[in-house]
Amino acid sequence: MNSDGRGVNWSARAARRTTRLRPSSIREILKLTQTGEVISFAGGLPAAELFPVAAVRAATDRVLTERGRAALQYSTTEGDAGLREWIAARHPQVGIDGVQVVSGSQQGLDLVAKCYLDPGDSVAVAAPTYPGALRSFEPYEVRFQPVKIDDDGIVPESLEAALAAGSTLIYVIPNFDNPTGASLSVERRHAVVELARAYGVPIIEDDPYGELRFDGAELPRLVDLAPDVVIHAGTFSKTLVPGFRLAWLVGSPAALDPVVRAKQAADLHTSTFTQFIALEIVRSGLLEEQVDKVRDHYRGRRDLMLDALDRELGDPALGFRWTRPSGGMFIWVSGPDSLDTTALARAAIAAGVAYVPGEAFYPEPGQVSGLRLSYSVASPDQIESGIARLGHILRQGT
Ligand SMILES: Cc1ncc(COP(=O)(O)O)c(C=O)c1O
Repeated sequence: MNSDGRGVNWSARAARRTTRLRPSSIREILKLTQTGEVISFAGGLPAAELFPVAAVRAATDRVLTERGRAALQYSTTEGDAGLREWIAARHPQVGIDGVQVVSGSQQGLDLVAKCYLDPGDSVAVAAPTYPGALRSFEPYEVRFQPVKIDDDGIVPESLEAALAAGSTLIYVIPNFDNPTGASLSVERRHAVVELARAYGVPIIEDDPYGELRFDGAELPRLVDLAPDVVIHAGTFSKTLVPGFRLAWLVGSPAALDPVVRAKQAADLHTSTFTQFIALEIVRSGLLEEQVDKVRDHYRGRRDLMLDALDRELGDPALGFRWTRPSGGMFIWVSGPDSLDTTALARAAIAAGVAYVPGEAFYPEPGQVSGLRLSYSVASPDQIESGIARLGHILRQGT
């Protein structure tokens, strides 16, 4: 507003929902880690040294040479037919009509929320869960019903309580959960989809990490068990590169029907250019190679971090425990109830190590004895010395 009082008072004019658009508290911590010599286990970024830059350059060249004009043109809202076919082939229960390409699974969450949540609705979410999902649902003026999660994923009895209390949408990260690293057991996968069927409530299956399995057998995706009640979100972000902002929703055509219209209103369609490049890469077989590389890299880092945690915090008298993820990027450490990981975060940064305090992952305030560690970007040396520093801080903090 100008000094004479004329003009626009932007904050007064802003829509009510903007007060529900909260900044990510993780980003605040990440800002602090950018100064000095801080070893960061806070971010959830993929390891950039693994990005297949040369292969992307070659694929880009081929796309421009062979289909340059089409690649730079507007395209259909649902996504490129070739890419949708490749996605549909991974989900035999749905055809190409059950695939919607989106600009990151984050956009997928927003579109599903826009189509399936009314003000006052409540969403059943694990406590803790991915804050990006909470942030994307909140502007739709919803409440959250916290669901317990343990080493086998969300607890069906607790989910049933949330459904009985009126939840109208279920949000699940079935594989190598962010933040806990836990995976939903096969029995619970069946139980969760049966609950969704019994209550007539849709599930959003958010699965960015499912391909990054280090040990054990692959488990069925919820959408493949129950395409009638699940919308699945998959992404290239953790397997190929996040910068493409390329992901997909898979579900029944009926489930996706309003989503296509919401997508059209949001951004017409996802970048034709990146869809073509990604298709070129998957057709060349490079994605499988890339996934193997990423898995090996993260498996090694996970092992180092688990060993270091055993050394630093393994004495049972200290009262710490942590998850042992079979894939993905995250370990969840929980300490005795007296531990305040929010209060300790600054001391940890001062000591040169960063984590995300558990509080950031809860739909409602109050839980502070847990924290999330990411092993995806740290070097072996950083894992050794970072966990030693963290061990020191946490032992003192109990
Ligand atoms: C659970 C979860 N869902 C969604 C996303 C966003 O993924 P995308 O890059 O596909 O938008 C992330 C990113 O960290 C995530 O951890």
